[in-house]
Amino acid sequence: MPHSPHPNIMTMPSESLPSFKIALLGAAGGIGQPLSLLIKSQLHLAVSAGATRIHLAMYDVAAETLVGVHADLAHIDTPVAVSAHFPGGDAAHSLGSCLQGADLVLCPAGMARRPGMTRADLFATNASIVRSLARDIAMHCDLATVHVLLISNPVNSLVPVVVRTLQQCELQPSGIEKRVLGVTALDATRASTFLGEECGNLHDFPRVPVIGGHSGATILPVFSQCPQADDLSQQTVAKLVQRVQNGGDEVVKAKNGKGSATLAMAHCGFRMLAQVSRMLIHRDGDIAASAYVALTHADGTPVAPGAQELMARNGGLHYFAVPITLSPQGVEEIRYRIVDYLNYNELNELLPVCIEHLRKDIELGVQFQLE
Ligand code: NAD
Ligand code: LMR
Repeated sequence: MPHSPHPNIMTMPSESLPSFKIALLGAAGGIGQPLSLLIKSQLHLAVSAGATRIHLAMYDVAAETLVGVHADLAHIDTPVAVSAHFPGGDAAHSLGSCLQGADLVLCPAGMARRPGMTRADLFATNASIVRSLARDIAMHCDLATVHVLLISNPVNSLVPVVVRTLQQCELQPSGIEKRVLGVTALDATRASTFLGEECGNLHDFPRVPVIGGHSGATILPVFSQCPQADDLSQQTVAKLVQRVQNGGDEVVKAKNGKGSATLAMAHCGFRMLAQVSRMLIHRDGDIAASAYVALTHADGTPVAPGAQELMARNGGLHYFAVPITLSPQGVEEIRYRIVDYLNYNELNELLPVCIEHLRKDIELGVQFQLE
């Protein structure tokens, strides 16, 4: 059992100032560590926190590693408070105290791929992990306000598991399904990087919308929406699509048994976290984002304007990665029009395959036993 973390004034947020709390579950892992560093070193600047005290509460079942990571981070001279939480910790270092009062929960907890595995191979292990963590979120967080950013794979199937678990635990409809966001930002970043490299433009990377899901053929980069891709041959675009769809495999292969993407994921996760945190701290309007989200409430009604229109275009799927408008209340609008702008190949070749694969992935999450 690790010793309780050294008491350090930098680690505890002040009671009197407005505060913003992030619970990071899986904080000692390959993604969790660099993400914790970015949050501790940069988040107050990235969100212009002003007088708001940011508190990063880190939880991991790898208690010894987590306590070490905490001790290390706690020496950094930024105003972001950090605390460590682990199984067997006392009340101040428990999972409950990590989640208590959290405005945002960020979850990269769970197993990562090794060569030869698909993301679906992670489902059995990671579905149990996120189901258990979702129950704890329901027990300790305010489901009417908390935002959950899920990184753990397979995102396509685990978002339904988390949404259904939270819905099952809520005492009254809280709209929590509008605030569970599957993190697919890495796909858009890869698409942007690979297109920028192809065009020889390494200063001003183009933004590429990516829709569908986060696995193989479910990843549908919409290069037709990028003027920079206009001059590329169909063959070149097809190669870029393939590379984005297999970007995760490229890293798993290169790491050769030592894990999957961690640093690029931490970078993208931090960018998304900063965007959502800024909105929640300053409450100065909606933001445009992109995520893998539920399109319906538990009773089957659409979560937001545009959800029904998207389901009319995505074969009736209830989960999809899509541009959204996000407010502190969650998804405000599904920007389904992106599907109407697909070119012939994206609409007739890529989208049908995306839908076929995504339907199976969603089914896996929807069938998962919650008891
Ligand atoms: P990792 O194995 O390095 O770290 C995972 C951490 O989770 C470990 O520290 C482990 O102790 C912890 N953990 C396991 N069970 C836990 C539990 N019940 N509660 C809290 N913590 C728990 O893996 P990683 O490289 O950090 O990847 C984490 C997950 O993120 C994987 O599922 C991976 O596939 C996924 N991932 C997603 C994306 C994406 O784009 N969404 C990108 C990269 C990786
Ligand atoms: C990625 O896209 O890099 C992640 O989903 C990790 C993986 O397993 O490929």
